[in-house]
Amino acid sequence: MEIRALRPNDDRPAFRCGDEALDRFFQRYAGQNQFRHYLGVTYVAVDSGRVLGFATVAPRHVDIEDLPERARKRLPRYPVPVLGLARLAVDRSAQSMGLGRQLLRFVLKLAAKMAEEVGCAGVVVDAKPAAVDFYARYGFAPFDALEGQSDARPQPVAMWLPIQAIKAASKPAH
Ligand SMILES: CC(C)(COP(=O)(O)OP(=O)(O)OC[C@H]1O[C@@H](n2cnc3c(N)ncnc32)[C@H](O)[C@@H]1OP(=O)(O)O)[C@@H](O)C(=O)NCCC(=O)NCCS
Repeated sequence: MEIRALRPNDDRPAFRCGDEALDRFFQRYAGQNQFRHYLGVTYVAVDSGRVLGFATVAPRHVDIEDLPERARKRLPRYPVPVLGLARLAVDRSAQSMGLGRQLLRFVLKLAAKMAEEVGCAGVVVDAKPAAVDFYARYGFAPFDALEGQSDARPQPVAMWLPIQAIKAASKPAH
């Protein structure tokens, strides 16, 4: 299994994660967003030519007024650069085997690289309510609680992981 950037000839129509909107994004938009518009990059987990999972990232800014108080105290007043994890999904056939965790780790490494090369204060994800606990396992904390939530149309929860936590977790243990 390798994780690498999406290529134009990767097999996308076969992908099914259980969430139609995510499948549709991967099948219809991930390619054109990356190859034609340069809006972001989708990284795919591929095994024997089959795409088993993907993570789409794009640079973002967050308004620091929206961040938790601890982060606000440390950061300047202007919007700060972050890496946005726009989408993450694993094919049903490969769920619960650690692939989501591997894709997320890959994204955190990208953020650490971005921090060194162009600046990045953390990773931000708009988590589906059902995935909030997944991100919380890796230290992501909710921020800027969205208003107007209802059970009929659950809204995504904005979650944030500061770069200091990412760097601390990637340091080799002595
Ligand atoms: C959410 C998703 C990406 C997780 O990927 P996965 O490969 O199934 O998860 P993993 O096997 O890597 O799980 C890693 C750990 O997180 C836990 N976990 C997985 N999904 C979880 C969830 N929805 N909530 C809480 N914990 C979760 C696993 O139990 C595992 O715990 P462990 O380390 O103690 O064994 C995947 O199930 C998926 O694509 N779901 C549908 C689409 C979706 O909701 N995407 C998120 C959009 S924001």
